[in-house]
Amino acid sequence: MLFKSMVLSNHEVSPGYYRMRVTAPPELLSASPGQFVMVKVRDSIDPLLRRPFGIFDIGVLPAAYDGGCEQVYLEMLYKVVGKGTAMMATLHNGDVLDFLAPLGNGFRMGNPQGEKVLVGGGIGLAPLYFLAKKLVENSKVRLFIGGRTREDILCVTEFERLGIETYVSTDDGTLGACGLVTEVMERHLTEDGGDKTIFSCGPMPMLQAVADIARRRSIACQVSLEAHMACGMGACLGCVVKGSEHGDSHPDYRCVCKEGPVFNFQQLMWV
Ligand SMILES: Cc1cc2nc3c(=O)[nH]c(=O)nc-3n(C[C@H](O)[C@H](O)[C@H](O)COP(=O)(O)OP(=O)(O)OC[C@H]3O[C@@H](n4cnc5c(N)ncnc54)[C@H](O)[C@@H]3O)c2cc1C
Ligand code: FES
Repeated sequence: MLFKSMVLSNHEVSPGYYRMRVTAPPELLSASPGQFVMVKVRDSIDPLLRRPFGIFDIGVLPAAYDGGCEQVYLEMLYKVVGKGTAMMATLHNGDVLDFLAPLGNGFRMGNPQGEKVLVGGGIGLAPLYFLAKKLVENSKVRLFIGGRTREDILCVTEFERLGIETYVSTDDGTLGACGLVTEVMERHLTEDGGDKTIFSCGPMPMLQAVADIARRRSIACQVSLEAHMACGMGACLGCVVKGSEHGDSHPDYRCVCKEGPVFNFQQLMWV
């Protein structure tokens, strides 16, 4: 669905990281956690391509907010890394953006039995909040969040407000446990047994470590990938990753925008 949205708020939550809330059409309420949006940052040739972002949250503002009718909103959590995101960071209340959404396949909620373990690295936390909101309705949820330093740890309070047990770690020890988020998660998995599903999003080396833990411990695991995207709709093949269906010698190729961005870890070739 193509739609135009008005910026309702856009503020820096940590140096270089922003949280933007925009208006959204009611149809977006049917989006699933893990699906993504493509944003045309500016109504001009440069930057030409839309930029993909995870859905941090979707909700409804009460009628009083808009003088009489409820307003659906969409939130994105983003890191400024280049031209498009730098432009987004300058937007204010009332500015208009062009969206293509919702896209891709999101997380599969699966069986409500068993604990849900969320693992986010840095800005990889972005799609996990919307997921957590849905999962806590029926399941016990724990969050492991890691970053290089304390400034990469975002929105912990929001997760805690959902009643989620949250474990923070940083590579340099400036916040939470010192070390990799995957090491902290594995320590906790060792301490308690039971049925679990892992949901993860973050940098590729972190996802690789998560997939390795899931394989060794026979835990169900879904990962959300980031890839360079041009069309976001399966047309340009700019986002393909290697799949595992035919083994090492003849890898199949998976389109992250159309078949993902969420995959069962066993569908992918981890090298
Ligand atoms: C499905 C999906 C969901 C995403 N969700 C989020 C999100 O919720 N929050 C967020 O901050 N970012 C997210 N990203 C990454 C985001 O799309 C890029 O950071 C953004 O497009 C960069 O645009 P730019 O114009 O600022 O940077 P550019 O000027 O285009 O690039 C700047 C630098 O960032 C790198 N880069 C650009 N795009 C990507 C990418 N897709 N993956 C890895 N590196 C990239 C480039 O190689 C370059 O080094 C997501 C990506 C995908 C594919
Ligand atoms: S971004 Fe074009 S096929 Fe995925």
